[in-house]
Amino acid sequence: MQKTLLYLLPIIIAFYCSSCSNSQEKNTDDIKLIEKTSSQLKIIAKNANNTSGRLKFPRTLNNSNEIKFVSKRDWTSGFYPGTLWLMYDLTKDDSWKKEATTFTNLLESEQNNSSNHDIGFKMMSSYGLGYKLTKNEKYRDVLIQSAKTLISRFNENVGCIRSWDHHKDKWEYPVIIDNLMNLELLFWASKETGDPVYSNIANTHLKTTIKNHFRNDYSTYHVVSYDTISGAANFKGTHQGFANESCWARGEAWALYGYTMAYRETKNPEFLKQAEKVANYIINIAQLPNDFIPTWDFSLKNDPNEPKDASAAAVMASAFYELSTMTEKDNKNYLKIANGMMNSLSSDVYLNTKGEDQGFLLKHSTGAKPSNSEVDVPLIYADYYFLEALSRKIKLTNQTQSL
Ligand code: GLY
Repeated sequence: MQKTLLYLLPIIIAFYCSSCSNSQEKNTDDIKLIEKTSSQLKIIAKNANNTSGRLKFPRTLNNSNEIKFVSKRDWTSGFYPGTLWLMYDLTKDDSWKKEATTFTNLLESEQNNSSNHDIGFKMMSSYGLGYKLTKNEKYRDVLIQSAKTLISRFNENVGCIRSWDHHKDKWEYPVIIDNLMNLELLFWASKETGDPVYSNIANTHLKTTIKNHFRNDYSTYHVVSYDTISGAANFKGTHQGFANESCWARGEAWALYGYTMAYRETKNPEFLKQAEKVANYIINIAQLPNDFIPTWDFSLKNDPNEPKDASAAAVMASAFYELSTMTEKDNKNYLKIANGMMNSLSSDVYLNTKGEDQGFLLKHSTGAKPSNSEVDVPLIYADYYFLEALSRKIKLTNQTQSL
């Protein structure tokens, strides 16, 4: 008997170890989701490789249900290479790395584009992820130059980076809540170079935004415009939301993600508190619907005819996963909300399969409803944050299991 056990021992150990290592990887549902999203992404990739001219980056669908490609200057141009990098990270399949490299390199000249604040969105999703995954030194140089370009838009009197240069008749110095997302590039640059100039500007921007972009309930204004001499906020309102005093759902998602990222980078408790207050607004004040996917503006949540915004949910899900690791206060609830969002986004209602929507992953996002632009359509940044959230979910599950 003892002899038999001795023979079996290596098999038992081998089985035990293989189940241990599987539990450190991905569960069946996640594997199926990666397979589904990967076959969708292959369809976009085939189309993207067949484009000629300067419009190379998939953004959404046009009215004829064809992929709308945009130029490298568009604020969304980094998200397609970013989606490819995320798929490479999830699958470790080198063909995704090859595609991601091609489309990342097409953005190189954007490192000097100082015409708006979007350089952080563009370069961190493409070059930033590429550098994290490959340590390619050329990517590092491009990112450092991009950070220099971004801080050229900072005004000390205001204490913020200027977002837009358009509508000069309307806004003296517009700063939009989305701008928080560009600050990750600055924290990265200070860490890499050892020069605090970048993170100092990011910290100032974050603090000025706490002062002026939030109402008492921690809902956000989309646009705040400043007097460039006194630094006073002389306009608070919206551009993409329903009304000046309403709360645009994706704006609130940027705020949640922005302060969560800022706490990760600084460990400043003021930023964690801000992220928690924004989370409280989303969960307890605005109150998410049963499927956890917000209507495009929270003030319209009771109108079933108003479109949802899956992109806001994808950004929030990714942020809630990260926030759940930073606080003991509500971490289980944050995880529950993130999982609820991901379950809905992975269901047939939101997730495309079998070539639907030309290969975009998610349906039902809303870009800018007030200008009737990109209403209830797929959007590349929804796909990007959905894959980022999936990747965070998998990493988090593995950590919990290894405890
Ligand atoms: N940053 C632009 C948007 O969220 O639509």
